[in-house]
Amino acid sequence: MTTGPLVDAGSRARHETTRPVLEVRELRKSYGDVAVLRGIDLDVRAGEIVSLLGPNGAGKSTFVSIVAGLRRADSGSVTIAGLDAFAQPRAARRMTGLAPQDLAVYPVLSARHNLRLFGELAGLRGRELAARIAEVARALRIEPLLNRPVGLLSGGQKRRVHTAMALLHRPKLLLLDEATAGADVETRGYLFDVVRELAADGSAVIYSTHYLQEVEMLGASVVLLEAGTVIARGPVRELVAGHSTPTVEFRFAGPAPLVVAEPGREGFAECHGDLLRIATPDPAATVAATIPALGEDARRLRGVEIVQASLETVYLALTGRRYGTGGELS
Ligand SMILES: Nc1ncnc2c1ncn2[C@@H]1O[C@H](COP(=O)(O)OP(=O)(O)OP(=O)(O)O)[C@@H](O)[C@H]1O
Ligand SMILES: [Mg+2]
Repeated sequence: MTTGPLVDAGSRARHETTRPVLEVRELRKSYGDVAVLRGIDLDVRAGEIVSLLGPNGAGKSTFVSIVAGLRRADSGSVTIAGLDAFAQPRAARRMTGLAPQDLAVYPVLSARHNLRLFGELAGLRGRELAARIAEVARALRIEPLLNRPVGLLSGGQKRRVHTAMALLHRPKLLLLDEATAGADVETRGYLFDVVRELAADGSAVIYSTHYLQEVEMLGASVVLLEAGTVIARGPVRELVAGHSTPTVEFRFAGPAPLVVAEPGREGFAECHGDLLRIATPDPAATVAATIPALGEDARRLRGVEIVQASLETVYLALTGRRYGTGGELS
C-alpha cells in the first residue's frame, strides 16, 4: 500500500507532460436563435476525470454529443488524442466511448448482441471482442443478463448494458452523460470502479451528473456549465477555497426582511422570497447577531440553516441557486 501514492504521482506527472487527450476550443452551438454553447474551451488530460455539472438545459448533453461526433458544432474545434475530430470524425470516434443520457439500446436484441454490434462498430473482432464483452459484463455485473432481450430488462439493468457499450473498447476518451440515472447504489459502485480503473490506465473521462456526492466519490475535478458557458473549472478543494464562504439561511413565513445586524456585512446579505441569506466566515456569530435584530419579524421565522462551504456553496456563490435536497442541482 505504501507505494500507492508514489505510483499515482508518477503516472500523473507522466500524463501532464503529454498533450491533453481532449482539447476543445471556442466551441459554439445554437438552435435557431438560442445559443446553447457560447464558446467552450476545455482540456482534459489522460488520467483525469472531469465532472460536468450544471442545471437542466445548461448545455451538458449538447457539449458531450458534439465531442462524440453525434451533433455538429457551429464553430470551434475538438481535438482528440491529437486528431481533429471534425476533419477525421471516424478515427476520432474510435477513440471515444459515449454513453448518452438517453438509452441507446436495441430492445429486441439480447444484451450480448447489443454489445457485439457496438464492439464491431468500434473495430473489435473475434476473440478480442468476446474477451472485452466478458470483461465489461463482469465489471458491471450483467453476466446473468447477457442472453436476455434488453427490452425486457429493468431500467437500471438497461442503463448498465448501455454504459457497458461505451466502455467496451477501452476508449481514450470516455463520455458518460448521467450514467447513474436510475441506477441503484451498488450499480453506481461497480460503475465508478470501472471508470477509475480506465482513468488510471490513461483514459480521459468526462462525467456529467447532478449529484455532487458523485464528484467526490470519483475524485473528479469540476467543470461548471451555466447557460452554455464554463463558469468554474478546477479541483473541488480549490473551487471551495476560491469561490465560497459558509452561508446562513433564515426562512420566514412570508417575505424575508433584509436584516443585517453585523456592521460591514450589508453586501453579503440578500433576500429571495421567503429566504434571507447571509454569506459569513463565522456562521454561529451571524446567527447570534441576527436573531435579536429581527424584532417583530422573528415571530415569522420558520427555520435557520447553516450551509458550510462546499461545492454546494460554490454553486450558490456563482449562480445564486441552491442544490435540491437530494444533493442534485436545482
Ligand atoms: N435538438 C435540439 N433542438 C433544439 N433545442 C435543443 C436541442 N437539443 C437541446 N436543445 C436545447 O439546448 C439547451 C441545452 O440542452 P442540453 O440537453 O444540452 O442540456 P443539459 O445540460 O444536458 O440538461 P439536462 O441536465 O436536463 O440533461 C436546452 O435549452 C435544450 O432545450
Ligand atoms: Mg443532459
